[in-house]
Amino acid sequence: MSYVLGIDTSTTATKAVLVDGSGKVAAVAAETYGYETPQPLWSEQDPAQWLEATGAAVRGALESAGISGSAVEAVGLTGQMHGLVVLDAHGGVLRPAILWNDQRTAAECDEMRFTIGPDRLIQITGNDALTGFTAPKLLWLRNHEPGLFASIRHVLLPKDYVRWWLTGEYAMDRAGGGGTQLFDLSNRTWSAELLESMNLPEEWFPPTFEGTSITGTITGDAAAATGLAAGTPVVAGGGDQAANAVGTGALDPGVVTLSLGTSGVVFAATETPAYEPSGRVHAFPHAVPGRWHLMGVMLSAAGSLRWHRDTLAPGVSFAELDREAQDIAAGSDGLLFLPYLTGERTPHPDPLARAAFVGLTVRHGRPHMTRAVLEGVAFGLADGLDLMRRAGVAEVDHIRASGGGINSPLWRQILADVLGAGIATVNTTEGAAYGAAILAAAGVDWATVAELCDQWIETTSVTAPGPDLSRYRELHAVYQGLYPALRPTFTALG
Ligand code: XUL
Repeated sequence: MSYVLGIDTSTTATKAVLVDGSGKVAAVAAETYGYETPQPLWSEQDPAQWLEATGAAVRGALESAGISGSAVEAVGLTGQMHGLVVLDAHGGVLRPAILWNDQRTAAECDEMRFTIGPDRLIQITGNDALTGFTAPKLLWLRNHEPGLFASIRHVLLPKDYVRWWLTGEYAMDRAGGGGTQLFDLSNRTWSAELLESMNLPEEWFPPTFEGTSITGTITGDAAAATGLAAGTPVVAGGGDQAANAVGTGALDPGVVTLSLGTSGVVFAATETPAYEPSGRVHAFPHAVPGRWHLMGVMLSAAGSLRWHRDTLAPGVSFAELDREAQDIAAGSDGLLFLPYLTGERTPHPDPLARAAFVGLTVRHGRPHMTRAVLEGVAFGLADGLDLMRRAGVAEVDHIRASGGGINSPLWRQILADVLGAGIATVNTTEGAAYGAAILAAAGVDWATVAELCDQWIETTSVTAPGPDLSRYRELHAVYQGLYPALRPTFTALG
């Protein structure tokens, strides 16, 4: 039996997923780690952790499946997007990586808009400048750590630093590369115009590859550390969101994916490099060759529910909260929740945005508040989907959902009603790592990505929109008035 391996370098763990020739998951192993917040708004990680965790997770997966590394035909990589890894001429790490959820670069985002021109920036990259993206982090280093900046010779993303360790090659996938905000969206690689206007040396940036292209092979040292066979091909893979879309079979326009983890993501494939005119939804190349995608990212989705549970109902299970909230009518008796507990990206790129319960009366209790949280997150995701519709996502056939939050039947129903489309669940639950394994299999010609998704991914349930659809449409409009009304308050609170 032959296998492919997907490796996901996420923010909290490295996960290795072994998949056999029939698409079945043969083993999963994960090694967790933490990240540092050395100052308010900062979020950093030591890249050495990823390497150690990769070695342990891959060895763990091989052991648990009881197979030798030589049975693995190809490896695909995925991981957290946007993180900045800077290396010296010998591949030495110059400082901790600055992660996707770091918010320190508001001034550098303004610097990018000013240097390139706000409209031109969106025309080239498809995106407005965002604190989470990689490019403003590089400018921050130039502004705040000039000595270190002068030593930079290579710029990589987290997953690509793991790639360098595994293969000795400097290379980057195009789905992840788009998230640096240094790409020309149409050409799917570095924009010479951007690099020149930002005065960043072209030679710092590695060659870029489509998701299924082979970027190198496992070195002898990496074989010793992981148990894989030297010479095993490693494909480009993709940033975690694009790889997750592959892992849930969302390759075609019309199939939207919804990922309901700590953050919440709505994602739609496009056949052209489409973008929203104000750059407020992310537009990047897909991990599938010749496709692009649009994506709205909420920072606190299931994270809002977890906060609610931990703060107002410690010790109560999510299932119990769900049951209580089921007895409350749509609209939570006039209670709304604004889900910006950790600032927001889509539709309001605002690190100072805050959460709020609005409309509380003495008649409201915990079940209303739970339901309001589920509804508020659904409205936030609908805002992202609306912006994507403006950018040309015309027809939404159905939505494929993944992530811990979709285990709630009530949330699935609310999402179907608020988003106005059926919410499907699928049999593949390993998300981005499974998508990376599919890209690896396509890279060594098991079949095309589309054929593998057809063969391996099945729908397990569909929740159709119900009678509350029109009530939610009215409430969504009320919800949309809250952020503009409260924004001066958020800014004053700082
Ligand atoms: C996507 C994004 C997150 C990170 C976290 O734009 O920032 O999905 O990739 O994993």
